[in-house]
Amino acid sequence: MSNIVVIGTQWGDEGKGKVIDFLTEQADIIVRFQGGNNAGHTVMVKDQTIILHLIPSGILHPEKKCIISNGVVIDPRELLNEIELLQSEGFILNNDSLFISEGAHLVMPYHKRIDVARENLKGGEKIGTTGRGIGPTYEDKIRRIGIRVIDLLEEDVFNEKLKANLKEKNFYLIHYLKEKEFKFEEIYEEYLDLAEKIKEYVVDTSVILNKEIENGKNILFEGAQGSFLDVDHGTYPFVTSSNTVAAGACTGAGIGPTKIDKVIGISKAYATRVGNGPFPTELVNELGESLRAKGNEYGATTGRPRRCGWFDAVMVKHAIRVNGINGLGITKLDVLSDFSKIMICTGYKYKGEVCSSIPSSLSKLERCRPIYEEMDGWGLDISKIREYNKLPDNARRYIERVEELVGAKVILVSVGSRRDETILLSNPFI
Ligand code: IMP
Repeated sequence: MSNIVVIGTQWGDEGKGKVIDFLTEQADIIVRFQGGNNAGHTVMVKDQTIILHLIPSGILHPEKKCIISNGVVIDPRELLNEIELLQSEGFILNNDSLFISEGAHLVMPYHKRIDVARENLKGGEKIGTTGRGIGPTYEDKIRRIGIRVIDLLEEDVFNEKLKANLKEKNFYLIHYLKEKEFKFEEIYEEYLDLAEKIKEYVVDTSVILNKEIENGKNILFEGAQGSFLDVDHGTYPFVTSSNTVAAGACTGAGIGPTKIDKVIGISKAYATRVGNGPFPTELVNELGESLRAKGNEYGATTGRPRRCGWFDAVMVKHAIRVNGINGLGITKLDVLSDFSKIMICTGYKYKGEVCSSIPSSLSKLERCRPIYEEMDGWGLDISKIREYNKLPDNARRYIERVEELVGAKVILVSVGSRRDETILLSNPFI
């Protein structure tokens, strides 16, 4: 039995969805513990592309249990759309395959309007949020005025909380954001209707999860976003509003830290970012465009083109530290196959001095220039290779240099988007 947390070591979109889908074969239970439908996991099953935003991709395996735990913020409309989409594609969901936490907070229509309106007000200082209302929902949770899934199932509690929230939110929307207000009835009726449709899945997920851990099941905790979008450890304020690092799995799922056996970090063989904020190795040139085209780097949730750049070992090393990563998965190595020279950032230069760690000051980080080490490419298609030793020498040299620089062992290499296009060096569940 093993309980494994899989998290991103960059700014999200590291290809966690594919790795999680691959590791799910060996898991009994898959748990989402933070974020909301700002995430988008693209998985390929046979030749079918499926994008999931809330429900763990483990749902594509009929015999697995999937949990959306208390740390997630749930837009019930989007959740129901996903349930219906999966059912129409032949994936049978029932209350023995999907469990939704009573304690998860709800994304309300006003959260989304506030999120978008605030970004519009910021002009050039935008965070570049996904506009899904994630930040405003977590704000209400921390302010202790949020509405949880359990509140929605108790009609009088929901009525009271919605009224209290709308009083304040409408004032803010009208007078500060210059936006339209919400009518109580339009939200109340819709949400009660949604509650009827999702209530069969709602339980205390911490109880279920801890029981399954006691029974010796294999649990996979599926991180969303990435370490540099973490509200504590990321490039604040250009972050999301949850703890995306591995420790978030404990608070977000209601388990103790002693229950986690391994933390697997996922990193692209290069780097990408959507939204604004510092990105030291960003390539604003033809090389960056070429990475975007070859890697199909467009956001799974918003369709926005991702900013692209070289692998930043300083960042990934930092992520290894704050997450306690035991093993690294490198994804999209195949995307680098056509590049004759590949760069790895080994440090930064700031005002003529070398820094080998990430400065906390955002303005300093924005001025840091990457110091690169150049490596030879391999110029061969590697997508059919399934054994590490069969990779071209230069591809292995690249992986081994990454290991050396970041201080973690690579346990998995992904060479294509399909589930089987994966080289497993060490099985984290053993
Ligand atoms: P929010 O999570 O919508 O508030 O957005 C905050 C920041 O996190 C923005 O830069 C988003 O682009 C980024 N972000 C949120 N979710 C994801 C994700 O799943 N992948 C990559 N970036 C994300």
